[in-house]
Amino acid sequence: MITLDYKIALDEINHIISVSKNKVDDVLEFLFNNFEKYSWIGIYIVKGNDLHLGPWRGKQVTEHTKIPIGKGICGSAAKSGKTEIIPDVNRDPRYLSCFVSTKSEIVVPIKKDKKIFGEIDIDSDRKNAFSSVDKEFLEKIADMLSLHI
Ligand code: SME
Repeated sequence: MITLDYKIALDEINHIISVSKNKVDDVLEFLFNNFEKYSWIGIYIVKGNDLHLGPWRGKQVTEHTKIPIGKGICGSAAKSGKTEIIPDVNRDPRYLSCFVSTKSEIVVPIKKDKKIFGEIDIDSDRKNAFSSVDKEFLEKIADMLSLHI
């Protein structure tokens, strides 16, 4: 169930999407500025057999700007079409490390016409940062963004 703060955030994101010229960038900016546990947020887009990094927000750039579908947490979510929640990245052998500070990760596919178009990838410096509420919240945002990217 989505709690009140997330509901307010969804309303705000709806508003950003309806008025902004740079919808994806501004949604990322909003999430990065308002959810402290979202330490790094990026959008990957499917191109052929790979995921390519698009807009992102965070302190550092990642070396993983191109990830083959099927590889890493990002590639796994792109292959299955299902959200991945990794409570402790150091315990998942698929994990491709970007930042030493990252402790947990969520990857949410973005679908267009039932096909995987891309995904939202969020790293957190906190262990076990992502709950089913984050999943529901971010899946709604992925649906909203899919109409605009
Ligand atoms: N950790 C990801 C790679 C992308 S970085 O987190 C930005 C993975 O395992 O696929």
